[in-house]
Amino acid sequence: MYESAEKLTEALSGENYVIDPDFAVVVFLATRLERPLLLEGPAGVGKTELAKALAAASGRRLVRLQCYEGLDDSRALYEWDYGKQLMHVQMLRDRIGELLSDTASMAEASARLQATDTGLYTEDFLSVRPLLDSVLSDEPVVLLVDEVDRTEESMEALLLEVLAEGQVTVPEIGTFTARSTPWVVLTSNDTRELSPALKRRCLHYHVDFPDTARETEIVSRRAPEVAADVVEGVVELARRLREMPLRKSPSISEVIDAARAAAVLDRGAGDEVRRFLLAALLKYGSDMDMAVRRLDGDEAGESEVDVATDEGWVNSSTRGKSPTSSAFAGRGGGGASTGGRAAADRYRRGVR
Ligand SMILES: Nc1ncnc2c1ncn2[C@@H]1O[C@H](COP(=O)(O)OP(=O)(O)OP(=O)(O)O)[C@@H](O)[C@H]1O
Ligand SMILES: [Mg+2]
Repeated sequence: MYESAEKLTEALSGENYVIDPDFAVVVFLATRLERPLLLEGPAGVGKTELAKALAAASGRRLVRLQCYEGLDDSRALYEWDYGKQLMHVQMLRDRIGELLSDTASMAEASARLQATDTGLYTEDFLSVRPLLDSVLSDEPVVLLVDEVDRTEESMEALLLEVLAEGQVTVPEIGTFTARSTPWVVLTSNDTRELSPALKRRCLHYHVDFPDTARETEIVSRRAPEVAADVVEGVVELARRLREMPLRKSPSISEVIDAARAAAVLDRGAGDEVRRFLLAALLKYGSDMDMAVRRLDGDEAGESEVDVATDEGWVNSSTRGKSPTSSAFAGRGGGGASTGGRAAADRYRRGVR
């Protein structure tokens, strides 16, 4: 249990998870009030990672239920292990024969067998799935219900029992109540509206793309081998891409990949660099075309100013500044020492 949102922030930071102050307060409250936490937001902004980092930071076991269309009780809750039950019956065959030997008819034998406890419907014969696992667990857990919007609404009813009561009912056995209340994190990509009943039980937070400073910190933490100026260049490029009406904006994980790619291409790659960065950041041909067009357009519009200052791209204003130049000026054959004009020419020759 965390004393404050600040303590939680520190603990998550120890797991290399960088959290916004507001978000930290909501997570702190969810742990304090033991309320499920519903995280919505675009892909790749750290929703799933929050649950993983929270589990690691607090020494709780992570139990993950990955949702998908068609997910049912037998995958989410439990399933009877028929193979094990059959084996058990075979082992008891002789005893069952003795038990039924004096019965006169099939109906009588069947009735006597039904009245006998063969031990088939006990915890031992359950294949435990994530929801029941989190309830039965002796150790405290973080239950991650990932991408809950991918399931049908009918699954939500099942979730509600676990979320609201912290319990699971197995008709043949009874109701299991959580030994220690799981910290539940649900994530959703907003592909469908979740039911009001589910939402009502949760604390809700919309996770969005971080601001530039926070994203720079995240990328530096996750890719510590990449030089700070390279990270800044890539984060700036991602920021500009996210302002465009793309089919898919670059996620944080793609920015991390791009920063790593940039570090690998660091020397000698020169003009080719931007194309490969865009390839790491964008996943659709149409997005790529738009990005190249707009980035080039921006530069054509304002590059006169940049070049005229003779201070190079590196120190030019944000708009019209090459998003990769600050990362790559001075690398790959040109360099800040050759001045802004050379860097700009090199950049403009870049792949279209
Ligand atoms: N706040 C953060 N601190 C540190 N790393 C982060 C943070 N946010 C995202 N990341 C990085 O981004 C990656 C992607 O995050 P994650 O898988 O949690 O995204 P998501 O929001 O669950 O996306 P999706 O909806 O696609 O599942 C993580 O593996 C991690 O490396
Ligand atoms: Mg996720």
